[in-house]
Amino acid sequence: MAKTDNALQNLINNNRKWADDISTKDPDFFPTLAKQQAPEYLWIGCSDSRVPANEIVGLLPGELFVHRNVANLVVHTDMNLLSVLQYAVEVLKVRHVIVCGHYACGGVKAAMQDQKLGLIDNWLLEIRDLYHHKQDYFKDISSEEEKVDKLCELNVVRQVYNLSHTSIVQDAWAKGQPLSVHGWIYGLSDGKVNDLEVTINEGSQLSELFRLKS
Ligand code: CO
Repeated sequence: MAKTDNALQNLINNNRKWADDISTKDPDFFPTLAKQQAPEYLWIGCSDSRVPANEIVGLLPGELFVHRNVANLVVHTDMNLLSVLQYAVEVLKVRHVIVCGHYACGGVKAAMQDQKLGLIDNWLLEIRDLYHHKQDYFKDISSEEEKVDKLCELNVVRQVYNLSHTSIVQDAWAKGQPLSVHGWIYGLSDGKVNDLEVTINEGSQLSELFRLKS
């Protein structure tokens, strides 16, 4: 078996320094975390390397349960996301689910263009559909950049609704479990997160059509 390539040795070195720094400050940090995790938040974000979940909100290991995919989508048949969501809500009992998109998202941009990229075009169809359905929002915007940013926001809002419509979130609400779903957006150019103020705290905030009854 080959040893780690030298090009990656700096990553291992960084890791040692990081772990040692934390252990020096708090010798119990890793032993305590190894026994259990009790995060209060589930983060659903974009895979973009410029949007690292924990760093942005200043949280340590153990404080944020994370799922990331291209363009922070909540696709109803995505078993990966649904499994993360179920575990976070039913087992870890997180109090908040945050969908955090970001401006100038490459996935969103690609969904507005006609350039063929391959398999990922299918994934991004969710956003292309949204763009198609929400044309009214774009007719008065002339700048391409602003159009992309508008769709980035609309995409986050759509994913907040998609999450709220899942049986997992609705079951939690039906049981009286406190759970809020939030939509945030991050600015690559200033590092700031903004709340899009589309928080949903209970099933009664949803359209009748989407409310499931047992
Ligand atoms: Co992105």
